[in-house]
Amino acid sequence: MVELTIPRPDDWHLHLRDGAMMEGVLPHTARDFARAIIMPNLVPPVVTSADAQAYRDRILAALPDGMRFTPLMTLYLTEGTDPEDVAAAHSSGLVTAVKLYPAGATTNSHSGVRSLDVVMPVLEKMAAIGMPLLIHGEVTDPAVDIFDREAVFIDTVLDPLRKRLPELRITLEHVTTSNGVDYVSDAQANLAASITTHHLMINRNAILVGGIKPHYYCLPVAKRESHRLALRKAATSGDARFFLGTDSAPHVDPLKECGCGCAGIFTAINTLSCLAHVFEEEGALDRLAAFASLNGPTWYGLAPNSETVTLVKRAEPVSWPAKIFTGDGPVTVFDPLLPIHWEVA
Ligand code: DOR
Ligand code: ZN
Repeated sequence: MVELTIPRPDDWHLHLRDGAMMEGVLPHTARDFARAIIMPNLVPPVVTSADAQAYRDRILAALPDGMRFTPLMTLYLTEGTDPEDVAAAHSSGLVTAVKLYPAGATTNSHSGVRSLDVVMPVLEKMAAIGMPLLIHGEVTDPAVDIFDREAVFIDTVLDPLRKRLPELRITLEHVTTSNGVDYVSDAQANLAASITTHHLMINRNAILVGGIKPHYYCLPVAKRESHRLALRKAATSGDARFFLGTDSAPHVDPLKECGCGCAGIFTAINTLSCLAHVFEEEGALDRLAAFASLNGPTWYGLAPNSETVTLVKRAEPVSWPAKIFTGDGPVTVFDPLLPIHWEVA
C-alpha cells in the first residue's frame, strides 16, 4: 500500500447549480475540498453582489451538518455590470472574482459579453483593485471550427486584452490546448490557468469513437492527444501558474442523452482518485500538492489549507457509483475508462 498526504485541495472552478441539484452534488465536493470557486452561470445568472450573497447563503444552507466548506463567489459579467457594485463586493470579501463568458460560448452564457469595449470600465476597475477576471476562452464565431476556438480566442481576444490592460489579473479557465499552455507559460505576469481532471484523462476520441458518448462532452471540448499530453506536462510541472479547476458540471442524464445534449462532465466524486493516477503515471506524485493544493491559493492570495487529505493506493481498483441520484434526476459520474487504484482515505 502506498500513501500520499497533501494539504486539503481546493477546486478553482466548480458548478454547484442550485436547489435539488446543488443538494445532491455539494456533499461530494465538500468531502474532498476545503474551498471552491463557484461558477455564476445559474438561470438567471449571479450578476450583482446581492445575487452572490443570496447564492452563498443557499450554498451554506445546503451543506450537510458537520461538513466544512468555503464557497468563493464569482459574479457573471454582463454588459450591464456596475463597476462600483463589483468593487464593493470584492472589498467586502464577498466575491473573489468575475467570470467572463463570451455570449453563446457555453451553458447559460447568453447573458455574457458580446463586446469587450462595453465592459472596459468594469475591467479597468478590476485591474485597479487587483480583482481577478476568470475567462471562458473560446470565440463564438460560427465560422471558427469548434476545435480551434480556444486558440483563436487567445490570438484575437485574450492577447489584445492583456496588451490593453496589462495590470488585469486573468485566469484562463479550463485550458485545453498546447496553444493555451504555451501562451500561459510565456506570460511574464498576471496570467494563470486552471486545468480540469477530465482534460488530463481523455482526448476527443472518448467522445466520438465507437458511438457518440455524451458523458464525455464538455466545453471547451476535449482536443486531440497532443493537446492532452501538453496539459499533463503543464499540470505535473509544478509551475505555479497551473492549478486544478475541475469544472465539475452536473447535468441530469436526460439532458445529456438526447438530440442536443448539454456540455459538462461531473467529476466531483472521483477527481482526487483520477489525479493521483495521472500524477503517478507522469512520475510526479510529489507535485500533486502543488497542482491541487498550493498553486491556486498562491494565485488567489490565500493561505493553503492547514488540514490534509491522504490518498491511498489499493491493490484492487477502487470504485464509485456510476450515477448519483439527485432530487432533479440521475447524474452520470465521469468514467476515466481505466482502472484507478487510488482513493481518499
Ligand atoms: O462543459 C461545460 N459545462 N463547460 C462550461 O463552460 C459550462 C459548463 C456547465 O455549466 O454545464
Ligand atoms: Zn465551467
